[in-house]
Amino acid sequence: MKAVIYDKNNSPDVLVVREVDKPVPAGDQVLIKIMAVSVNAADYRSMRYGIIPKNNIYGADVAGKIEAVGPEVKNFKIGDEVFGDILKWGSGGFAEFVAVSEEALALKPAAVSFESTATISMAGITALQGLRDLGNIQAGQKVLIIGAGGGVGNFAVQLAKYFGAHVTGICGPRNVEIVKSLGADHVIDYTLSNFTEEKIKYDLILAVHGSYRLPQYRRALNPNGIMVMAGGALLQLFRQMAFGWLFSLGSQKMCLLKAEPNRKDLAFLGQLVEEGKLNTVIDRTYTLAETAEAVNYANRGHTLGKVVITVSH
Ligand SMILES: NC(=O)c1ccc[n+]([C@@H]2O[C@H](COP(=O)([O-])OP(=O)(O)OC[C@H]3O[C@@H](n4cnc5c(N)ncnc54)[C@H](OP(=O)(O)O)[C@@H]3O)[C@@H](O)[C@H]2O)c1
Repeated sequence: MKAVIYDKNNSPDVLVVREVDKPVPAGDQVLIKIMAVSVNAADYRSMRYGIIPKNNIYGADVAGKIEAVGPEVKNFKIGDEVFGDILKWGSGGFAEFVAVSEEALALKPAAVSFESTATISMAGITALQGLRDLGNIQAGQKVLIIGAGGGVGNFAVQLAKYFGAHVTGICGPRNVEIVKSLGADHVIDYTLSNFTEEKIKYDLILAVHGSYRLPQYRRALNPNGIMVMAGGALLQLFRQMAFGWLFSLGSQKMCLLKAEPNRKDLAFLGQLVEEGKLNTVIDRTYTLAETAEAVNYANRGHTLGKVVITVSH
């Protein structure tokens, strides 16, 4: 099969398409014929920091068809269309096939394309668990999504509206219209104004991106407000890890999200997409041979929604 191999000795292109053995599913693994895979920060950040996946193949957010099943597989059969985030199981999605534990997967929403489905898992689960599990989002709350223009942010805006919140999204100028169209009640273009200087207080802040100081978030929170940090500049994440607990000593709470993919949440998100309650946004699509280009584009950090690789067979 064709796979995009990470080979750091192959300068200047470290991502090269090579012919490798097609995997054979063992135990609880299924063999997925990959139809589409989306690019995530987890891919290019891991490359940057030398975290190499199993078989040197990146790619986590897959959607495809089951072509073979291991002897212990209980939940799926050959022919099922599935999707999932396989990062925790060693990645391997930038390829024609991957063998992965059935634990990582849910059934694909039937009426949704493979490309759209491939955008859901990592970004959708991060947004959902950030808002619902750590953020304890409630109807009527004022919610701020920082980094609303990207993959996680697009889902977060829509999910916060789904949970009945009043939503403000912060993004760059290129993404203002799409964030509005996804349902945000108010959109702040971060090149024009700084939310920390506005007088509005929020019940919940989901920081998907940004590099603000913790006291700035704190001032923008209501006395019982919760601030969930999902991503952003490394400096911001370090500050949160080092000092976040200090800001949680009073009635406000600041926490760091570590999203955990699971079938129940995947199925919930898939159903919302199927019912048209959650839209997927694709900025650009690439072929498997263009994976390096796709990763470079996503790595620039200003995508509008997701970058997807279509795998043809
Ligand atoms: N905690 C977890 O478990 C978890 C899981 C998944 C991802 N993450 C993290 O979440 C972050 C976002 O992931 P993603 O998939 O959404 O990435 P993405 O699709 O690349 O989106 C990032 C977005 O951030 C926006 N942005 C850049 N600078 C900004 C700024 N100063 N203020 C506000 N927005 C800004 C960009 O939009 P504009 O063009 O509008 O600026 C871009 O669209 C990454 O850091 C990733 O590592 C964390």
